[in-house]
Amino acid sequence: TILVLDFGSQTSHLILRRLRSLKVYAEMLSCTTKLADLTWKPVGIILSGGPSSVYDEGAPHVDPAVFDLGVPILGICYGCQELAWRIDERNVARGTTREYGETDLTIHKVNPHADRLFNGLGESLRVFMSHFDKLVRLPEGFVTIASTKNAEFAGIAHQSKPIFGIQLHPEISHTARGTDILSNFAIGVCGARADWEMENFTEKEIIRMRKLVGDTAQVIGAVSGGVDSTVAAKLMQEAIGDRFHAILVDTGLMRLNECAQVKETLEQHLGINLTIVDGSQLFLSRLAGVLEPEAKRKIIGATFIDLFEIEALRIEKDAENTPLAGKVEWFLQGTLYADLIESLSFKGPSATIKSHHNAGGLPARMQNGEAQLKLLEPLRELFKDEVRNFGRQLGIHEDLIMRHPFPGPGIGVRIIGEITPERVEIVRKADYIFISMIKEAGIYNDITQAYAALDTNRAVGVQGDSRVYGYICVLRAVNSLDMMSAEPYEFSWDLLKAISRRIINEVDGVSRVVYDTTSKPPGTIELE
Ligand code: XMP
Repeated sequence: TILVLDFGSQTSHLILRRLRSLKVYAEMLSCTTKLADLTWKPVGIILSGGPSSVYDEGAPHVDPAVFDLGVPILGICYGCQELAWRIDERNVARGTTREYGETDLTIHKVNPHADRLFNGLGESLRVFMSHFDKLVRLPEGFVTIASTKNAEFAGIAHQSKPIFGIQLHPEISHTARGTDILSNFAIGVCGARADWEMENFTEKEIIRMRKLVGDTAQVIGAVSGGVDSTVAAKLMQEAIGDRFHAILVDTGLMRLNECAQVKETLEQHLGINLTIVDGSQLFLSRLAGVLEPEAKRKIIGATFIDLFEIEALRIEKDAENTPLAGKVEWFLQGTLYADLIESLSFKGPSATIKSHHNAGGLPARMQNGEAQLKLLEPLRELFKDEVRNFGRQLGIHEDLIMRHPFPGPGIGVRIIGEITPERVEIVRKADYIFISMIKEAGIYNDITQAYAALDTNRAVGVQGDSRVYGYICVLRAVNSLDMMSAEPYEFSWDLLKAISRRIINEVDGVSRVVYDTTSKPPGTIELE
């Protein structure tokens, strides 16, 4: 296993993704991890990039034991600066220009030991850089193995130890042959085994969950009808059978007919018993008058947990004097890496973009272990495409596997402005039309995620002979590999106009339909 120590770059998790594509197993932990707390010994360590400056007060630094472990180390961007700064603080300084984007890297052949990182990659590469700080001196004991116009020491290698540093980001797809650089390090230098398979993961995870939960405890799990929570639920059911209870909280912010459909799919096709808890009144009343996106997210996250804690008590009571009797100790969630990266501020220095309700939006007590329920997140290491494969192995059918993601806070983050029952109804109808037409056009599986939302500012229109003053319906459809970046889907103009026409004609309260053409970044996929 390779250990990735995360300094909070938005792309740190892609390092794992690239390594897994090489079948090399890696785990990512916070840069502040103490090596003494690890129960395993990594075969190599990668220090990720990050938004801080190594020389700033309060900047994150790795446990010095990392350098005494004797395993190969690769520092990427901030990680490279961290290596150099530790040797001599004068090695790193702010550059005169910020280097952001693609640039040409010249590779220098030095000696067989130092050349291993760029082995087989020729003399130059197009690479992706994103930095202001840089190495201004070659650290003592190192040689230069690559440079760019702006960064003389863009690649360095220790003369005798297996320690490397690169200013470029090999994990980003814009870096040509970035995966080869990671392969050279992980397999070539560290000798990591390339034998990681999804099947091993499925079996291992079921066994791990069974052990963790023990013989008597019960587990409740939040399901939403999406692939992540369904996979997590199916896994848990395989692990502990009837001691697992799947709960769908009806937030009142679900899509049209969604609760009934989810119940049918889970119970009839997957044999998972599902309880629907109707929280719609409670959610809507707590959200009344709230406009600020983060405030909405926090309220929704907290209300979820309140309802789950009540459910946990009910399940315990119902199970008394039956063979299932036992405490409900665990709360299962289908959280994925992407959710964590963008919303966890406890994790380290990564900037909080938004609080995903099944991650950072949870009340602190859920995250620091003081809550009545402990968190179980069997999928937290995985990416979406991996979860889908995992789901196929568990026998979940293709419609559900390929279902577009739907955020936990649902329509709540798709209404800009105050959430009211009338507005939720409008979004439901518009969304239903949008998605149905996408399906009819046969392009549903070509789009990663599509939805209708509402801007509750109003615009004037004319329908028949009268003036209308209605809301603005926002359509969004994106393609994305990992949800960290996304591109707007390019509809045929005719289809887009037909969708717009139907929404205006059939959904009362909407006077305009607009299509969101923003990429992520700078936008995000949801509006709030
Ligand atoms: P953003 O809007 O952050 O969305 O670009 C990235 C992906 O995450 C989904 N999303 C959420 N999923 N709880 C979830 O379970 C949330 O609070 C949440 N917020 C966003 C979003 O739909 C997209 O797929």
